[in-house]
Amino acid sequence: MSTFNVNLCHCSAVSPYNDMIVDDPVFDPSVHLALEMPAYTISMTDLGYDEEVRANTPTDIAATSCFRILSDEGVAAMYHVCQQLEAFTTSNPRVARNTRGGIYRSNFLRDFSCSPEVAAHHSQIMKTELTPLALGHNLAHVNYPPLELGKNIDKWHVDTLQVDTVMFVTDPNQVEGGEFQYFKGTKEDIANLRDLEQPIPTHKIITPPIKGAGYAVLQQGNYVVHQASALRTAGERITLVNGYSYADMAYPDYTAVGQLIHADPEEVVGAEYCHHMALRIGRQLQAFTNQPNFQLSLQAQAESLRKVQTELQLAIEQLDNARGQAMHHFGD
Ligand SMILES: [Fe+2]
Repeated sequence: MSTFNVNLCHCSAVSPYNDMIVDDPVFDPSVHLALEMPAYTISMTDLGYDEEVRANTPTDIAATSCFRILSDEGVAAMYHVCQQLEAFTTSNPRVARNTRGGIYRSNFLRDFSCSPEVAAHHSQIMKTELTPLALGHNLAHVNYPPLELGKNIDKWHVDTLQVDTVMFVTDPNQVEGGEFQYFKGTKEDIANLRDLEQPIPTHKIITPPIKGAGYAVLQQGNYVVHQASALRTAGERITLVNGYSYADMAYPDYTAVGQLIHADPEEVVGAEYCHHMALRIGRQLQAFTNQPNFQLSLQAQAESLRKVQTELQLAIEQLDNARGQAMHHFGD
């Protein structure tokens, strides 16, 4: 009997760009990875999030201490890739110089960012299954320091995704400044401070020690308010941010199309968002085709389909209403 199989590509099979980097290493997880567990984690409760907010995510882990991801060979290869990706930097109201969409220009970066080994490792840390983010420009984002010394690399903000790693590609201990920092409080706490024009109390600013290049912090980026501070002296600082989604479809998607169009070309954001939501919706519809539930009432079947319909409707509304938002951040 012939079967009709729909193969959904997690990474888009086509690219918005023509230019690839010239010298692209081949990613080999057995050579380039040196995965370790973090020594400790901090919880959503530690940050002050209440039960109602915590019910929106499948894990109470908010952020980790720094842990190793890349081997020495992995650091050398990633540094080589990121040096070449610096030719493609763009600016937005938060970050002076970043390269987004590098997965379309480097197969090494794409294969690392989509690595099932890395996703499985991070899932173990977060105690919930994670999948690499399907929006290519948010899947891998590379930060470079502003050309102007003393200017923050990234302002205080939350991310437009569920989970991400901030990995140092260069050794942060070789430069003055450029620390990754997070706020020990909630998004509302920092918004209130800003409304009152009060500074962030220094005891609320956490600077996790980073051992070296290839080490990262894993966080619920949409809840952990964080920043990348300025370099105090001239030096090289490159970080790679990789995005992940919760595999559990019971938790709603978090993508902010109106924010992403400040960082990437509008047509690219639209195509990637449709790809991402089609994957999410397709995976939910697959359950109806591959594992039909013979026990449910007609009303329950309708309710299951309605949930998918609601996701599609919300996606359409995001696209319709994306324009006209300011880029959100909490300043320097
Ligand atoms: Fe961020």
